[in-house]
Amino acid sequence: MNEIRSSSESNTKSSEVSRDDVQTFYSRAAVTSQESLCCPADYSGDDLSHIPEEVRSISYGCGSPVSRANLSPGETLVDLGSGGGIDCFIAAKSVGAGGRVYGIDMTDEMLGVARKNAVPVAENLGYSNVEFKQGFLEAIPLEDASADVVTSNCVVNLSTRKEEVFREIHRVLKAGGRFVIADIISEREVPEAMQNRKDLWGECVSGAMTLPHFLDAAKKSGFLGLCFEKDYLWKEVEGIRFYSYTIRGYKLEPGEPAPEASKLLAIYNGPFDSVNFGGTHFEVGVPVAVDRKTGSILGSRAYCGEFTLIDPQNETPAEAPGSCCG
Ligand SMILES: C[S@@+](CC[C@H](N)C(=O)[O-])C[C@H]1O[C@@H](n2cnc3c(N)ncnc32)[C@H](O)[C@@H]1O
Repeated sequence: MNEIRSSSESNTKSSEVSRDDVQTFYSRAAVTSQESLCCPADYSGDDLSHIPEEVRSISYGCGSPVSRANLSPGETLVDLGSGGGIDCFIAAKSVGAGGRVYGIDMTDEMLGVARKNAVPVAENLGYSNVEFKQGFLEAIPLEDASADVVTSNCVVNLSTRKEEVFREIHRVLKAGGRFVIADIISEREVPEAMQNRKDLWGECVSGAMTLPHFLDAAKKSGFLGLCFEKDYLWKEVEGIRFYSYTIRGYKLEPGEPAPEASKLLAIYNGPFDSVNFGGTHFEVGVPVAVDRKTGSILGSRAYCGEFTLIDPQNETPAEAPGSCCG
């Protein structure tokens, strides 16, 4: 993953497309599989073995955010725009019987398919930990600080009020929580005439943000540690290339006080001479004391070995949860 260093583009989009148009589009897509929406989402056979065919046939994601969320048993995950429920059902297996999964969608027909299939999924898993709630990305029907992870698969581009979506994701995440979003990103700003086309908006094309636009919206809502992977070129429409990306960010409380005894030392290894993270400056090779939550983020997969973490209690490299550079 590449870390985000800067971006300047503003978040301005005004389209004649409404949320009702998107809802009408997905009411149809819930009952008749739409070829034009099928992106190559990369699910493994093992992830899907407990999920009925009806759900798979209306899978309209562009990535597999759940498989990249490093889920642990017992975590609570919220999937925005859950559609037929494919990502919720994959997550249900990873978080286990002690975890919880909420799928949020506005479209009756999508919720109908998801709720119906939650029954055989629970039978196949031997437990039931998924709930589908009707609601909007811009007003998530969950309490503040109730989720460890928020995922979304090819949905944020469909919102006509994207800044509200990021604010809501931030609100429902616990401190230290993360989002992992797969979405369509345009190589340049989509022209207004194209933004006003309901068919292209519904097909996850003309509502797509540029990468700086996406990152700015996330930063404005307080997310830190943003990083992304460019997964593949999805399609080219009217001379503009649209890509599938997976983007991750953390709700971290900068400077959050932590007991001295529980601090870790983080040593930045490069490739730059120095970096800033959450208001803290790191020079290559210079140990800096960080709280354990920050340490676990710096040591996570997102930072791919850029930081070495030392536990001063025993002076050995600290085990960071989810630490892996594979
Ligand atoms: C492209 S489909 C993706 C579905 C699912 N994530 C998947 O991978 O199959 C988009 C879904 O998001 C829902 N959706 C779009 N905009 C929404 C909004 N503003 N609030 C709630 N749901 C929304 C639609 O009803 C639809 O089910």
